[in-house]
Amino acid sequence: MRIQFSRIRIFAGVLLLLLAAALAFPAAAQQVQRNPDGSVNPTASAVNEQKLLQTLGQIDGRVSIPAQRAGVLIQPAGREWRAFHEITLRIIGAVAIVGMLALLVIFYLWRGMVRIEAGRSGRTLVRFNAFERGVHWMTATCFVILAISGLNITFGRPLLLPLMGPEAFTAWSQWAKYAHNFLSFPFTLGVVLIFLMWIAGNIPNRVDFQWLKAGGGIVGQEHPPAQRFNAGQKLIYWIVVLGGSAAAATGYLLLFPFYVTDIAGMQIAQVIHSVVAMLFIAAMLGHIYIGTIGMEGAFEAMGTGEVDVNWAKQHHSLWLDEEQARARETQARPAATPAE
Ligand code: HEM
Repeated sequence: MRIQFSRIRIFAGVLLLLLAAALAFPAAAQQVQRNPDGSVNPTASAVNEQKLLQTLGQIDGRVSIPAQRAGVLIQPAGREWRAFHEITLRIIGAVAIVGMLALLVIFYLWRGMVRIEAGRSGRTLVRFNAFERGVHWMTATCFVILAISGLNITFGRPLLLPLMGPEAFTAWSQWAKYAHNFLSFPFTLGVVLIFLMWIAGNIPNRVDFQWLKAGGGIVGQEHPPAQRFNAGQKLIYWIVVLGGSAAAATGYLLLFPFYVTDIAGMQIAQVIHSVVAMLFIAAMLGHIYIGTIGMEGAFEAMGTGEVDVNWAKQHHSLWLDEEQARARETQARPAATPAE
């Protein structure tokens, strides 16, 4: 009887111990362990990751290598950034780019090419000199390569990796990344030159307002007067100058990490860079459309540099007047007499 009683006591004791351990363990796991000075001790054995994140904002430890940043183990904003990069950005990019392409196809089917109504006159005048065209094409070439190599970072993995396989995709992505890094410099130079070269003709004024009210000759059948650049071209100019500057500034923050800003700053820079890039690409698709199949005679302006007089009359009548007045003035001016 006594033996049985002592067995029951041992059994009850073990049960109580187990119960106490079961109750104590989650409590210990939930509690943030603190150092004697009250600061949180992230290396304590029974820390709860979630609790630590809430208390500290991020989890980092001590590392013995010079790169102290390697000690950051978990940074919650990184998860938000990853969700942005893998979901939100892809939606923004797809809507902006595919949406713009769809709009352009619909617009072309509805409006067709805007023709030179009076036909070609056979007489031309210079619209862009060789330097202007050189800057334009250098910037445009860099832009297209930057856009393709950038889009590869956003969409390459879901779209190209399954088609190309890992080896080819890795090799292509590496070259694309080199191109993105190195072509950023001539692209930035191009944006600066475009800003300086064409700023005089791109300040908005009252003529632009009238031009927009009349649908710019693209939407309606009217051909409102315009100076060297109409309101639509001015819009493209400012998109290039401001979008190009924003892409360059944020791009260099990413290209030279930690020189100017920390991880949080770079995450913001990346969000701005990528959203600006998507909108920029969509806008340039519109620009390429008007410069090629959207308008007869427009490509020549940047191709040979000369446009037909009837094209100029239809789309930039005030500019044509100015150019003709200037030509008459130079012809009327007596030739300089050589010094005796
Ligand atoms: C002008 C200077 C530019 C610089 C210095 C620059 C630099 C960078 C860098 C360092 C990255 C991050 C690459 C990585 O994660 O490995 C990036 C991403 C990207 N860039 Fe640029 N870039 C520039 C211009 C442009 C332009 C003009 C476009 C568009 C036409 C563009 C489109 C993109 C896109 C789409 C991404 C990928 C965004 C993402 O999915 O994370 N970039 N750029």
